Amino acid sequence: MIVAQLSDIHANGSGERLDRLDKVLGWLHPMRPDAVIVSGDLAEEAHDRSYRAVKERLDSLGCPYFVVPGNVDDHSDIRQAFGDRFGWTSNRPLNVVGEVDGLRLIGLDVTVEGAHHGDAGPQLEWLAAELAASDLPTLIFQHQHPFPTGIDGKDRNICFNGEGLAAVIEAAGDRVLALTCGHVHRPMFTRFAGRQATMAPSVTKANRLRLDGRESEIVDPPGLLLHHFAGGNLVSHVVMVD
Ligand SMILES: [Fe+2]
Repeated sequence: MIVAQLSDIHANGSGERLDRLDKVLGWLHPMRPDAVIVSGDLAEEAHDRSYRAVKERLDSLGCPYFVVPGNVDDHSDIRQAFGDRFGWTSNRPLNVVGEVDGLRLIGLDVTVEGAHHGDAGPQLEWLAAELAASDLPTLIFQHQHPFPTGIDGKDRNICFNGEGLAAVIEAAGDRVLALTCGHVHRPMFTRFAGRQATMAPSVTKANRLRLDGRESEIVDPPGLLLHHFAGGNLVSHVVMVD
């Protein structure tokens, strides 16, 4: 089965942002994903209108999809748009759980009101209970990265309490296949809690890669991840859409 991951759409009422989303979805449609996850920052301005435009596009995919908020999202407006679908009855936290073809998808709202960093701490009890509720293989997704990226200036906005999050994941055994996130607008791969950890490329403009004071002028096109789950094995593919 194929789970497509979109991240950091940053819709703002302009056609340019939605054009980038349409380009990515245009690539995705023929792949007929079994599910789509969106790891936050769907809209950064004109939130109400932007969520309606994003939702219309996600609805047109014809498969289940799951969304968590990021730091530039508006919790009230995003709940207005998607709340009925995900059973969100209050503005915080906006966690989500789905099950598609024997794979569990747990979306964790690690955002902190008024801040760009995240914090897994307040969600750990909920996550532990959700993980204990089923032994199906599980993919966890959230907005802020709980692992250091090493990118200059980007790790101050990390997801705090990564150690606590790792402990909950480790305690759940091997049912947690991987954790994936967004937020830094660059695709990357590492290990977290002894598992695969990924970050999806952004739909909106990418950040340049800056490592140890060195940087490239190259700015990447919009992209997405495709998580392919087969025979108990998860392989994550990066796709850039020019
Ligand atoms: Fe973000």
